[in-house]
Amino acid sequence: MKFVKAESYEKLSRMAAGIIAAQVILKPDCVLGLATGSSPLGTYANLASACKAGDVDFSAVKSVNLDEYVGLSGEDDQSYRYFMDTNLFSKINIDRANTYVPGGCSDDMEAEGKAYDELIDSLGGIDLQLLGIGLDGHIGFNEPDDIFVGKTHVVELDKSTIEANARFFESIDDVPRSAITMGMGAIMKAKKVLLIANGKNKEDILNQAFYGPITPRVPASILQLHPDVTVIYSEN
Ligand code: F6R
Repeated sequence: MKFVKAESYEKLSRMAAGIIAAQVILKPDCVLGLATGSSPLGTYANLASACKAGDVDFSAVKSVNLDEYVGLSGEDDQSYRYFMDTNLFSKINIDRANTYVPGGCSDDMEAEGKAYDELIDSLGGIDLQLLGIGLDGHIGFNEPDDIFVGKTHVVELDKSTIEANARFFESIDDVPRSAITMGMGAIMKAKKVLLIANGKNKEDILNQAFYGPITPRVPASILQLHPDVTVIYSEN
């Protein structure tokens, strides 16, 4: 694991965007695994600028997102599909047909998860997976559990996750209680993992995840077993 401490969120965002841009330059038809939440916003803004400047060409890139709230359609402005369209896909020259987010509104969520794993396999797996980390150690929405779940699956969100994500909603009651998330299988099979975290409040969970025991109680701790993980952290 490479641990990089950035001076500021702005620097973290530039570094993360640099790593993703390098991936796209080296393999123009790569598969990017993407995350939502507040951590990647700066990274996505930098990627948009790099694309606008003509430095990175996303036209052959495919992307797979980590997760989606159950019950929200892609048109819902709280959905992760909407987040990605707004914050990244509409600002770079990626073909939207090559961008994938798990569906939150399927009648058969189990089939949805299976189809998503098959899709990732059919794309040849993920070249670079971008991750944030939750205060309870979740990656994607793989919440603390008794086991590591490999497949894309539906999870009940933890109280701490619902509270943390309430900032994006009008009231905490509006935060969906469940989500569909890529499992640890596809994440661990990604060729490279880039985890970004900012804020003093993430320090303790980062220590537990990367320097504590490997346990599904701290889901991100599984990344200690991945051969190519870069963590970029900034205190602010
Ligand atoms: C979102 C996701 C989550 C977030 C995590 C951190 O797609 O997969 O694991 O990365 O909840 O969220 P922020 O960045 O808002 O602190």
